[in-house]
Amino acid sequence: INDGSSLENLQVVADPSLENRDLTFGSAVEVQGKLVKSPHKMQNMELKAETIRVVGPCDIWSFPLKMKERHPLEYVRQFPHLRCRNNTLGSLLRIRSEATAAIHSFFQDNGYVHIHTPIITSNDCEGAGDLFQIEVKKTHFFNVPAFLTVSGQLHLEVMSGAFTHVFTFGPTFRAENSQSRRHLAEFYMVEAELSFTESLQDIMQVMEDLFKTATSTVLSKCPRDVELFHKYMAPAQKDRLEQMLKNKFVTISYSEAVEILKRASQTFTFKPEWGCDLQTEHEKYLVKHCGEVPVFVINYPYDLKPFYMRDNEDGPQHTVAAVDLLVPGVGELCGGSLREERLPFLESRLQRLGLTDAYQWYLDLRKFGSVPHGGFGMGFERYLQYILGVDNIKDVIPFPRFSHSCLL
Ligand code: 4AD
Ligand code: MG
Repeated sequence: INDGSSLENLQVVADPSLENRDLTFGSAVEVQGKLVKSPHKMQNMELKAETIRVVGPCDIWSFPLKMKERHPLEYVRQFPHLRCRNNTLGSLLRIRSEATAAIHSFFQDNGYVHIHTPIITSNDCEGAGDLFQIEVKKTHFFNVPAFLTVSGQLHLEVMSGAFTHVFTFGPTFRAENSQSRRHLAEFYMVEAELSFTESLQDIMQVMEDLFKTATSTVLSKCPRDVELFHKYMAPAQKDRLEQMLKNKFVTISYSEAVEILKRASQTFTFKPEWGCDLQTEHEKYLVKHCGEVPVFVINYPYDLKPFYMRDNEDGPQHTVAAVDLLVPGVGELCGGSLREERLPFLESRLQRLGLTDAYQWYLDLRKFGSVPHGGFGMGFERYLQYILGVDNIKDVIPFPRFSHSCLL
């Protein structure tokens, strides 16, 4: 029997007189008896049953999970209402729960205030055009177009002006028409915002500390569950993680990254050029080039990035103080930046984008006690994918949503 508290099953030993034809794999049972020391090597304890009651029988012939079978993840994905009873998903969801707690603790222990940023919003933080718009049967419910949030960042910026260090950890939504193994339409993002910081290095240090602290906690709190992944799915991952926890993450600039990529130009479908976005194949190459370790790429082209990023005022290759953290096997895990806190810079950028009216409130923040600040967002599912070595993002979230699929 298993109650979901751990990967381990508790062996029940019963007299044949207690046999019951409803007592099949998958059924819900209530067992009373004595917990005794087990003579078997594989377990400490076993339950000597005195009574067994089948609370809810299970039709084994149509039950899609089979006893003692290691079902592939693609197979159990078809049964989102049942797959949490499978060992792998069971372990994953316990790890997910511990990782959530570890992330909250990291921020609380370091003096951050947790903010519930809204799910319904009238802004498009990233300006990437992949918003889910909310339609209400009763028309004009909000009087303005409303969307599911793509990021809590702008709301966190409001709060960092009052509380200095803030974070949020909630669902975010992107209508990315992608079937890739690292994109979801609904995913969880951990976001932090820090006031009184003028250096991108400070933001990167928080990313690195968060990553290492949360990972060490997860490894020490759920060793058996994590082992299941490392042993059966990603045998090299355990050693790589241990190395990663000991070493400092590597940093390169976007311009250096493009130079590295250009030297291997023939390897890529998309030819790397200064000013172009890094493609998945480029990110993979960079991570490999740096020795399969996490890599910060900093200072991206001004024209590639959203309006809120701080102008580096350099040239002729004009950049902003942006950072992406790339990790082996997954690619981009975090994105962050210093924010443009100078009113004239922000005003002229918003004007060029025709966004001045929509962002009056955001400009206000620069008029009323503006401070240098910055922050970042980490995709929680990509984080789990990376530490556990899970190939497909659909297997690290309880109910995956992606284009053409919204089961349950
Ligand atoms: O790089 P992104 O778009 O950054 C932001 O939204 C910033 N406003 C965050 C901030 O500075 N507060 O997204 C952050 C991270 C990505 O690096 C990636 O890990 C994850 O969110 N992400 C996704 N994860 C799963 N499915 C998707 N469709 C994702 N899009 C982004
Ligand atoms: Mg990004």
